[in-house]
Formats: sequence, C-alpha cells, structure tokens
Amino acid sequence: MNLVAGATGMVGGEICRLLSEQGRTVRALVRETSNPEKVARLRSLGAEVVRGDLKDRASLDAACRHASAVFSTASSTMSRHEGDSIETVDRQGQLNLIDAAEEADVKQFILISFPSIDVNFPLQSAKRAVEDRLRRGRMTYTILQSTFFTEVWLSPALGFDPAHATAQIYGGGHNKISWISFQDVARFAVAALDNPRAANAVIKLGGPEALSPMEVVRLAEQAVGKPVAVQHVPEEALRAQHAAATDSMQQSFAGLMLYYAHGDAIDMTETLRAFPVPQLKSVREYLRATA
Ligand SMILES: NC(=O)c1ccc[n+]([C@@H]2O[C@H](COP(=O)([O-])OP(=O)(O)OC[C@H]3O[C@@H](n4cnc5c(N)ncnc54)[C@H](OP(=O)(O)O)[C@@H]3O)[C@@H](O)[C@H]2O)c1
Repeated sequence: MNLVAGATGMVGGEICRLLSEQGRTVRALVRETSNPEKVARLRSLGAEVVRGDLKDRASLDAACRHASAVFSTASSTMSRHEGDSIETVDRQGQLNLIDAAEEADVKQFILISFPSIDVNFPLQSAKRAVEDRLRRGRMTYTILQSTFFTEVWLSPALGFDPAHATAQIYGGGHNKISWISFQDVARFAVAALDNPRAANAVIKLGGPEALSPMEVVRLAEQAVGKPVAVQHVPEEALRAQHAAATDSMQQSFAGLMLYYAHGDAIDMTETLRAFPVPQLKSVREYLRATA
C-alpha cells in the first residue's frame, strides 16, 4: 500500500495517477475541505481515500497503517485553511507524518523538496528540518529536491502571461533555470519506489534544458507570434521585500523569488542514468501547448 499525502495537489495527484496506472495500490490522504472533484477523481483512479490532516497526528497514524511507502508532497504554500502555515504544515505537519510512518513500520518515505539555497526563509528551514529528520530516522528515504515547476513559475498566476503579451520576471532574467514539469517530478517520485538507487538518497531534479527567463520570453514570443512586454522585479526590490516581510509566507515567497533571480541550472546526466525517465517535458513543448 502506498500512501500519498498531498494527493489533491499537482504532484500528489499525478503520483496517484501513475501508481494506479502501474497497478499499484494507492491510498490518498485528503481533507474534509479538499475539492470534491479532485477527491472524486482520486476515487475514479481506484485510490482508497482516507481523511486526515498533517496537523492531526491521530489521523496520520490511521492513514499510515499497513502502508509500505509514503509519498509526501503536501504544502501550505498554495492551498491552506485556517491553522495552516509553513510552521504547522510544512514543518511540524511533515514531522508528524514521518513519526507516524516510522511507527507504522513504513519502509520508504519519498519527500518532495527543493535544493538548498543561499537565502534564509521559513519554507527553506522547514524543508531542511524535515530532510534532517528523515536522514536521522529508521526508514529508507528518498529526498527529491526539485527546482522550479514550469507550470507554476511560467504561468499567469505568477505574472508570466505571453498570451496577453506580458511577462513578469524576477531579477535581471539572465541566470539559467532547469524548469521542470510537475508531471516529471511525479515520474521521478514513482521511479524512486523500491529502487535501490534511490535508497537513502538526496536527488536534485531539473528539466531537460536550462534556460534563462529572458530566453524563455523569446521562445514564448515565437510560440504566440507577438512581442511580449517584460516587467522586471529588480533583485534589490526582492531583497527589500524579503527583509521587510512580516509573516512566514511573505518572507518565503520573497526568498523563492530571490532563488529564481539567482538561477538554478541542474545537470541531469547522472540522475537520468540512474533513473531512466524518458523524454522530460521541455519548456518549448509547454509554451507551444499553452500558446
Ligand atoms: N512549485 C514549485 O516550483 C516547487 C518546486 C520545488 C518543490 N516544490 C514542492 O513540491 C511539493 C508539491 O507541490 P504541488 O504544487 O503539488 O502542491 P499543491 O498543488 O499546492 O498541493 C498541496 C497539497 O497539500 C495538501 N495540504 C495542504 N495542507 C495540508 C494539511 N494540513 N494536511 C494535509 N494535506 C495538506 C493540499 O490539500 P488540499 O487540496 O486539501 O488543500 C494539496 O493536496 C510541495 O512540497 C512544494 O514545496 C514545489
């Protein structure tokens, strides 16, 4: 039995789909407040749906019962309700889930995280604390440190909207990022299951090509066939936002935008040798599909 925490999210939902496509058993952790359509979709995949919350240890004990692997993609950054925060969900909630999994004798824990960054912010310290707990624990762990998701950071929600001829860029836009599709993150997560090469491993994940945000803008212009007006948020403004932030979420978003401004090119050669996940989705494909 494979438990997926974050099953109604982008990566978690895709992990459930892939597991069920491979004929593996899936238990999806959802909340009372989770979107009913997403829960129905999980059921239609054949997943066993269990209610729980990362803040509620008893619900996690029940969810982990007889599970052999746990995938955790849950995060409060995009989907949160009263009481949810980086401290309660991304830090303590994940620690609760690890404790519950360990007590239930789960064999492997697969965590979606991001690479260590040279900027302090609460989401990063939460991720590092959870990773440290896994390293010190009894379970086989796989920590997948993914860089920026294409579908999130190159989307209108974050100001990247070539269809409407505008693109907001954080920083100068010349540092390269290995944008990765959330679907490929899910494919690596599923490929890590029972894979000796993923045992007690920390693996950085990026897409097939590192491109600077300005290079992405040029490709987007070709895809939509019109010029795109670029608006830069200067690095100094991001640093000021990071320093002035009054809550963890604001400070974390400023930290992530500074990370973007600094760039994150990841050489995937070695990882792809160990995990032959074919045809990673490129930014070009994404831009063509969304143009
Ligand atoms: N976006 C990026 O570029 C990026 C890059 C690297 C790593 N990551 C990491 O990748 C992971 C997956 O991201 P994603 O985009 O798939 O996330 P997402 O779509 O925002 O999904 C978050 C999931 O967490 C669940 N959740 C939130 N609070 C919870 C709680 N208290 N108890 C139980 N479940 C809770 C949500 O459930 P409901 O539907 O019930 O709210 C949802 O299923 C995250 O850990 C993120 O930090 C993201």
